[in-house]
Amino acid sequence: MKYIAPSLLSADFGNLSRDIEMINRSAAEWLHVDVMDGVFVPNISFGFPIMEVLKKECKKPLDVHLMITHPEKYVERFVDAGAWSVGFHLEAVDDPLPILDLIKKKNCRTCLTINPDISVERLEPYLDKVDMLLLMSVFAGYGGQKFIPQTFDKLTWLRSQLDKRGLKTLIEIDGGVNASNSLDLFAAGADVLVAGSAVFGKENPEEEILKLKGEL
Ligand code: DX5
Ligand code: ZN
Repeated sequence: MKYIAPSLLSADFGNLSRDIEMINRSAAEWLHVDVMDGVFVPNISFGFPIMEVLKKECKKPLDVHLMITHPEKYVERFVDAGAWSVGFHLEAVDDPLPILDLIKKKNCRTCLTINPDISVERLEPYLDKVDMLLLMSVFAGYGGQKFIPQTFDKLTWLRSQLDKRGLKTLIEIDGGVNASNSLDLFAAGADVLVAGSAVFGKENPEEEILKLKGEL
């Protein structure tokens, strides 16, 4: 799978409908929705009011990335608010399994995420228990950071573990993705690439999405 999920975090919130329309027209498969609480990460983004707008206006599946403490308190509300997939950080919780169950019981897709300083081996117990695994290639908190090259080692390891077990669990990469590393990431086994600053703010974001996919 070679999917692009532009990150709403880099959109122009003064022109939100215009940017959502661009996503609807574009070749992007999903819209990535970054929710930050100012506690788990040193930044606050947005919450349910923006989800309401997206639910109404966005035609692409909403890939919600929770960068919050106590995700168990909110995952069901995000499903109700229109999430197509709900992900949270492994390092934010004691036991991810009951939280994954809350999401699954709502018939929603699950994603487990780790920051760059968390060893990828910690995902091993969950490989067959989630729909997607998200490797952060920058520290969660801000858009526009530089891609951390060591992500490739984690990606290669994760790809081989999934293939060895014949698992279809998706791998998503998030942070610092642009047209100069996207094709290498897909080649190394990524299924979904998140891209914020590489898409929004560009003169022609739709063209940029095609470039990320290697179709231009
Ligand atoms: C970072 C977010 C990312 C971010 C990506 O905390 O999870 O999704 O928006 O932005 P870029 O592509 O600009 O690194
Ligand atoms: Zn994200």
